Amino acid sequence: MAKLENDTLIRALLRQPTRYTPVWLMRQAGRYLPEYNATRARAGDFLALCKTPAAATEVTLQPLERFPLDAAILFSDILTIPDAMGLGLSFVEGEGPRFARPVRDEAAIARLAPPRPEAELRYVVDAVREIRRALASRVPLIGFAGSPFTLACYMIEGGASADFALVKKMLYQRPDLLHRVLDVNARAVADYLNAQIEAGAQAVMLFDTWGGTLAHAAYVEFSLAYIRRVIASLAREAGGERVPSIVFTKGGGPWLEQIATSGCDAIGVDWTVSLGAARARVGGRVALQGNLDPLVLLTDPDTVQREAERTLADFGDATGHVFNLGHGIVPSTPPGNVKALVQAVHAASRRDH
Ligand code: CP3
Repeated sequence: MAKLENDTLIRALLRQPTRYTPVWLMRQAGRYLPEYNATRARAGDFLALCKTPAAATEVTLQPLERFPLDAAILFSDILTIPDAMGLGLSFVEGEGPRFARPVRDEAAIARLAPPRPEAELRYVVDAVREIRRALASRVPLIGFAGSPFTLACYMIEGGASADFALVKKMLYQRPDLLHRVLDVNARAVADYLNAQIEAGAQAVMLFDTWGGTLAHAAYVEFSLAYIRRVIASLAREAGGERVPSIVFTKGGGPWLEQIATSGCDAIGVDWTVSLGAARARVGGRVALQGNLDPLVLLTDPDTVQREAERTLADFGDATGHVFNLGHGIVPSTPPGNVKALVQAVHAASRRDH
């Protein structure tokens, strides 16, 4: 495999010196881009887009054609795993994901088994291979999966939830059942990420979107313990290159020190934490990724530039920062503001003049 032309992301994740701060954005391929909406319409719907490697490749590359981003992220979804377990995923317009067969009782939980990446999830592995070919070593490709706990939230609730009442009831009343779901999920996520790494993913990220809704002790026992297990099972390198891992717990500010001991190379943080304070807390153990409020992108280029510079200054002059948002781009974002953001991050962080 050819050497990366731009390895700034990998170097920053490993806390090596870089000429500038690399930037990529969660949901950088998505509904704020008219070309994404056109490809999705041609594919039929969002799930068809995910399940067609050529279409997934096309949308993965769309943001890179507009902006000089320092990484591509696999176009897919975290819910491919429970879908492959047979739960029957669909996306309801304006409502989000829904499972036809959520797991709510002991019998359904006993039947759960990790899907085989090369069989039920073959379309994802194929997409990774096709994206790597299309990228031609320009920038690294990030693979990803949901955390075992965040997947369990959707599997048990059957979709989005305001309070995760079913999951939390199970957590407090039948922790044995939730642990069984999390055990299956941890094996499934590790197999899935290792298949992505083998197919060409050059860094991997765990999205723990709902871990931050847990009580302190529950986060450590039901989310972080399984993240730790996944990371311990991951291939550390591929083709002689290190494959860094990123853990993003939204609302994970209270646990940064504990997350830093999970074996990950970098922690993704949302906008509620100060990057400077976070850096002091995790010391030199891990890199940090974040953390601009995605709503800043609804303003104007000057405001975007000011807030990007504030975020860079908050992290300070040190290695180990990957610029990102604190959560995904919202669909009403003007693409011109994304361009202003990428330019501002690169210009304000240059260290070679
Ligand atoms: O970041 C990227 O560009 C890569 C692609 C990606 C998507 N989803 C595409 C997507 C990634 C990394 C995800 C992760 C994901 N999916 C998470 C974790 C990150 C987060 O946002 O908290 C979660 C919780 C999901 C589950 C999911 N997928 C929900 C709740 C929804 C509906 C909400 C929404 O934003 O519409 C989705 C749909 C989804 N996943 C879209 C995209 C581009 C929009 C679907 C569409 O085009 O209609």
